[in-house]
Amino acid sequence: MRPKGRRHGNRARHGPAPVVLVHFGPVRVRTGCAPVWRGELAGAGLSALPPAARWGHRAGVGIYQQQVLPRLINVLCGMEVAGPYRARVCAGLHGRVLEIGFGSGHNVPFYPAAVTAVHAIEPSDVAWKLAAERVAASPVPVERSGLDGQSLPLPDATCDTALSTYTLCTIPEVVAALKEVRRVLKPGGTLHFLDHGLAEDGKVQRWQHRLDPLQGRVFGGCRLTRRIADVVTEAGFVIRELDRFYEKGSPKSLGADYLGVAVSP
Ligand SMILES: C[S@@+](CC[C@H](N)C(=O)[O-])C[C@H]1O[C@@H](n2cnc3c(N)ncnc32)[C@H](O)[C@@H]1O
Repeated sequence: MRPKGRRHGNRARHGPAPVVLVHFGPVRVRTGCAPVWRGELAGAGLSALPPAARWGHRAGVGIYQQQVLPRLINVLCGMEVAGPYRARVCAGLHGRVLEIGFGSGHNVPFYPAAVTAVHAIEPSDVAWKLAAERVAASPVPVERSGLDGQSLPLPDATCDTALSTYTLCTIPEVVAALKEVRRVLKPGGTLHFLDHGLAEDGKVQRWQHRLDPLQGRVFGGCRLTRRIADVVTEAGFVIRELDRFYEKGSPKSLGADYLGVAVSP
C-alpha cells in the first residue's frame, strides 16, 4: 500500500515507530500481551530464537497484519488528497462492478450513478467492518463476494466493469488475479485502475528498489517496484487510457502513480 497525503507525508510513509519496531529487531516491543525479544523477521534471525520467542514474534506480526495494518490503511487511504484521483478512476464505472481490494470502502462515495451493484473482494475482516458506514450509506448494494482477488467465487462474464485502487501493488500473484478479473468481466468490460508503482525516472527507481523490502514488511507485501501497466497487459487487457504522474505531496518513490482504463477484449 502507498500512504498518501500531506498529513501522512514522509513521517507516516516511513512507518510510525511501533510499526517499524514490530518488524525490525532485535528490539523489545509490546505486542498486546507480554513484551518479547524479537529477532529479524527474515527466516534466519527468527529460527535462531527460542520457540516461545518465535511464537511471540509470529503472534506480534499476526496482530500487526490483522488488527493494526487495516486500521492504518483506513486512515492513510482515507486522506482527502486522494479524492480527485478516486473520482477520476471511478468515472465511467457502470452496471455490475467488481472491486478487488475493497479495503474500508473509500471508493464508495465516488461510484457514479450508473453503477447498479458492487461485488467487493476483500480479505481483511477488520477492513470490511471499517467499511460498514460507507457501505450502509451507499445508494447501490455492496456485497462482500470474496476474499482473494486471485480466486474469485463469481461466475464467468457477470460484471460490466471492474475497479482496483492501491491493490495491484500488493496482491502476490497479481497477473493471476487480473486474469480472474478478466474471466468475471463480460467481453468488452473495462478495468479501472489506480496504483503506485515503478517510476519512469531512473534515480527514483533506484530509491524504490532500496525501499522496497521495508515497504513490503510494513505494508503487508506492498511493492514499490511493480510495473503496473505491464502486469495489466500481461493479463490480456488492452490499455485504453493511461496517465502517469507523481502524487501531490508524496515522495516520488512512494507516489509514482498509474491511473488508467483497460479493456478486456
Ligand atoms: C492499500 S489497500 C487499498 C484499499 C482500497 N482499495 C483503497 O483504495 O482504499 C490494499 C487492499 O488490498 C487488500 N488485499 C490484499 N491482498 C489481497 C488479495 N489477494 N485479494 C484482494 N485484496 C487484497 C488488502 O486487504 C487491502 O484492503
